[in-house]
Amino acid sequence: MENFDGKVAVITGGASGIGLAIAEALVSEGARVAIADIKGAEQAAAALGDNARGYRCDVTQMSDIEALADAAWSEFGQVDLLFNNAGVMPGVAPLTGASENDLRWVYEVNVFGAWNVCKVFVERLTGQGSPAHIVNTGSENSLCALGPMMAVYNSSKHAVLGFTDILRHELPDFIGISLLCPGVVKTSLASSVEARPEDFGGPEKNQLGDMTIGMEPAELARRCLDGVRRGDFFIVTHYATRYMAEERCQEVMKAFDEQTEAYDGWQEWDSRSMILRALGALSD
Ligand SMILES: NC(=O)c1ccc[n+]([C@@H]2O[C@H](COP(=O)([O-])OP(=O)(O)OC[C@H]3O[C@@H](n4cnc5c(N)ncnc54)[C@H](O)[C@@H]3O)[C@@H](O)[C@H]2O)c1
Repeated sequence: MENFDGKVAVITGGASGIGLAIAEALVSEGARVAIADIKGAEQAAAALGDNARGYRCDVTQMSDIEALADAAWSEFGQVDLLFNNAGVMPGVAPLTGASENDLRWVYEVNVFGAWNVCKVFVERLTGQGSPAHIVNTGSENSLCALGPMMAVYNSSKHAVLGFTDILRHELPDFIGISLLCPGVVKTSLASSVEARPEDFGGPEKNQLGDMTIGMEPAELARRCLDGVRRGDFFIVTHYATRYMAEERCQEVMKAFDEQTEAYDGWQEWDSRSMILRALGALSD
């Protein structure tokens, strides 16, 4: 999708940080936006003017997601872009010390929430039948391991990579999809634990402090929209992530090179071909 003028975008987690910056950038390019968030959506939309509407939507609630889709289509008559961006970050802890509350909360928002937003919107965008694009917000944490104490958040973002990469093979030709993989961006993400809902143990003190470092959200939004224009699947934004992603890719390739060998007929165990053949037989 090369031009956002006249397009309609739905942005979850759009009331602050990266989502809000994407909303601002889209409005400045002539798009109309539906800002969805568990808090602050109406105020954020009001600040953006007539081309924005705000909707309270908790992505952990399927009924909220359905209501958001109903509201977006009824208000704007169409949806062309989905930024599936709402996300939270828990406190830092080793895997053995991570709380059940954090694990469930982060997976409910980052994994089940993002999954269910895809489910509802893909069905409706497919029915709509016109060109559309979906951006799922992963992270550099989708591509590599930064280090210790981040297993909950990191594994949730690997899950987003996994289902996004499968979904791209399931979408009709007229729907594109990207995985946005930012490094550190100057937002209030680290404070999300201070707003952890009561169902998941309630608020906790943010041990990481203010994330006053990182890329400006406006710059991140510019890079994200450029990625959508180009139709990139991976939208990467920080050169600083590159060496960690490379480390992972090289380690995997080295493992194959050292532990396996090519042989005549290896294709017999090519899982991709096996799956495609099995699926083909099912649809016959
Ligand atoms: N800031 C970074 O360094 C960084 C890096 C990589 C990826 N990300 C990802 O970017 C996305 C946006 O985060 P951000 O950095 O802008 O942080 P942010 O805290 O400013 O924005 C996240 C938004 O999601 C909303 N939200 C939280 N739970 C929700 C729920 N259940 N339903 C609906 N909305 C909910 C919050 O209210 C908030 O407005 C997240 O998915 C995050 O994981 C951020």
